[in-house]
Amino acid sequence: MTPNPFQSTQRMILPSILSADFAKLGGEIQDVLAGGADFLHLDVMDGHFVPNISFGPPVIKGIRKATQVYLDAHLMITDPLRYAAPIVKAGANNITFHIEVTPDPISVAKQIRQLGCQVGITLNPATPVEKIFPVLEHVDLVLIMSVVPGFSGQKFMPEVLPKVREVKKRIKPNQRIEIDGGINPETIKQARDAGADLFVVASAIFDQPDRKSAVMALRQSL
Ligand code: DX5
Ligand code: ZN
Repeated sequence: MTPNPFQSTQRMILPSILSADFAKLGGEIQDVLAGGADFLHLDVMDGHFVPNISFGPPVIKGIRKATQVYLDAHLMITDPLRYAAPIVKAGANNITFHIEVTPDPISVAKQIRQLGCQVGITLNPATPVEKIFPVLEHVDLVLIMSVVPGFSGQKFMPEVLPKVREVKKRIKPNQRIEIDGGINPETIKQARDAGADLFVVASAIFDQPDRKSAVMALRQSL
C-alpha cells in the first residue's frame, strides 16, 4: 500500500523526478520505487518564481496512472491558488507552496486544504524562518529548502539547518519536516540530526546507474 507520510513517524526518502529521464518517466518511477523509495516529490516550476520550467497537471496525471504512491507536489510558482486544484485533480496528495509568493499564507493554506489534500509551507534559504511561524498550525508539513530552488544538482546549504531545529521545536507530532536540495548520503545525516523526517533527493538517486543501491546508501545513512 502507499506509505502515507502522515500516518507514520518513519523517516522517508522521496525521489524528486526532476533529475529523471523524462523520455522514460514511467520506467524511471518504477525503478526508484522498486529500489525502495517511499514516495515521489514533484517539482512544479513556472519560469517566474524560479528560472526554470518543469511540468504541470498533464504530466502529473500521467504519473498518477503509472503509480498509486503518495505524490508530494512542490509548487515553485507565483500563483499557487491558480494551479492547486488542477494539480490535486491530476492526482497530487499534497501541495506545498512558497511563503514568498503571498502576503496571506494562512488563507492560501486554508484554501488548499479545502481541495481535500494535505498542505505544506516552504521557504527559500534567504527567507527568515520566523516568517512561517504563524502558518505552522495551518499546515501538515514544513519544507526547508537547502538550496536556492530551481535546479537539481546543487550543493547542500548547511546554514539552513538551524531552521529545521527551530521548526522542530514548534510543530506537533503529526506534522512533518521535509528537506530539499543537495541531499546525499553525507548531508542526509546532518538533516536527520537537525530533525528532518522526509528527505527529497533528485541527483543523488537519478544520476546513479543503480537506483536501488543509491536508495539503500541513503537509508543506511539514516
Ligand atoms: C530544487 C527542487 C528540488 C531538486 C532537488 O529546486 O525543489 O526538489 O530537484 O535536487 P537535488 O537532490 O539534486 O539537489
Ligand atoms: Zn522540490
